[in-house]
Amino acid sequence: MKKTAIVTGGSRGIGFAVSLRLAKDGFNVAVAGTRAQSDCAKNLDELAAVCGDYLYIRADVSVSGDRRRIIDETLNKFGGLHVLVNNAGVAPKMRADLLEMSEESYDYVMNTNTKSVMFLTQLAAKAMLGLPVTGKKRGTVINIGSCSAGVSSINRGEYCVSKAGIAMLTMLYADRLAKEGIFVHEIRPGVIETDMTAAVSEKYNRLIREGVFPIARWGRPEDVAEAVSVFAGDSFLYTTGNYVDVDGGFHIRRL
Ligand SMILES: NC(=O)c1ccc[n+]([C@@H]2O[C@H](COP(=O)([O-])OP(=O)(O)OC[C@H]3O[C@@H](n4cnc5c(N)ncnc54)[C@H](OP(=O)(O)O)[C@@H]3O)[C@@H](O)[C@H]2O)c1
Repeated sequence: MKKTAIVTGGSRGIGFAVSLRLAKDGFNVAVAGTRAQSDCAKNLDELAAVCGDYLYIRADVSVSGDRRRIIDETLNKFGGLHVLVNNAGVAPKMRADLLEMSEESYDYVMNTNTKSVMFLTQLAAKAMLGLPVTGKKRGTVINIGSCSAGVSSINRGEYCVSKAGIAMLTMLYADRLAKEGIFVHEIRPGVIETDMTAAVSEKYNRLIREGVFPIARWGRPEDVAEAVSVFAGDSFLYTTGNYVDVDGGFHIRRL
């Protein structure tokens, strides 16, 4: 039986690489995103070429009713749910010093990056619990966090807080869902070449030249998708609530 994965923010950037990879791995893929389907046509056509049948759900993960629809429409179309990849995320619309951060920006980033993961995971876990187990586990939740969970950037503090929240959410759900056969993992990308980092590419080009990242290149969306693929599969059955850095070794403290 073909398993089914939901990838939030799965039509571009890291999420698109994850969608493609899971499709290649043999999953049905449901992609959720805010843009009209026609605006994602190029990437979705590429996805269709791999998995034939995919589902696109236009939905805002920060909206409760939309989260419900993501689960319902996926179940209606594919009849199952095995993997949830909580990938959708935003940076602050404007980088501002911590002392100038607005409550509006804080709420926008936290609602999109963190609250959405708390409550979409809740819905997905309940849906998985209502379905028969196929294979070695009932399900997997993979949260795309960030190196920012543990690295201070004082001009986008709300983003760092949102990703630190993902780290605890991962542990909480891993703890709660272990006995249900649902595994929960976190992936912490470093600097990955996507639309999100395009606005600050000069800064990161300079940091790469200066040797800040032991593996001296931009990360690629496919680097993250590879880690997702491993967690989504049937390996690591004695591992949950952990994280993997996909950051070119950036997390290594050096002297
Ligand atoms: N790029 C990096 O260096 C980096 C590093 C660490 C962590 N991350 C994390 O990796 C994830 C993906 O980042 P990315 O670089 O691929 O970003 P991106 O290129 O900006 O893409 C973001 C994706 O999230 C979706 N999205 C944003 N807000 C949404 C909402 N309210 N509801 C539903 N979907 C929403 C977007 O959907 P639409 O296409 O419909 O707008 C888009 O598909 C994020 O969680 C980000 O924090 C990225």
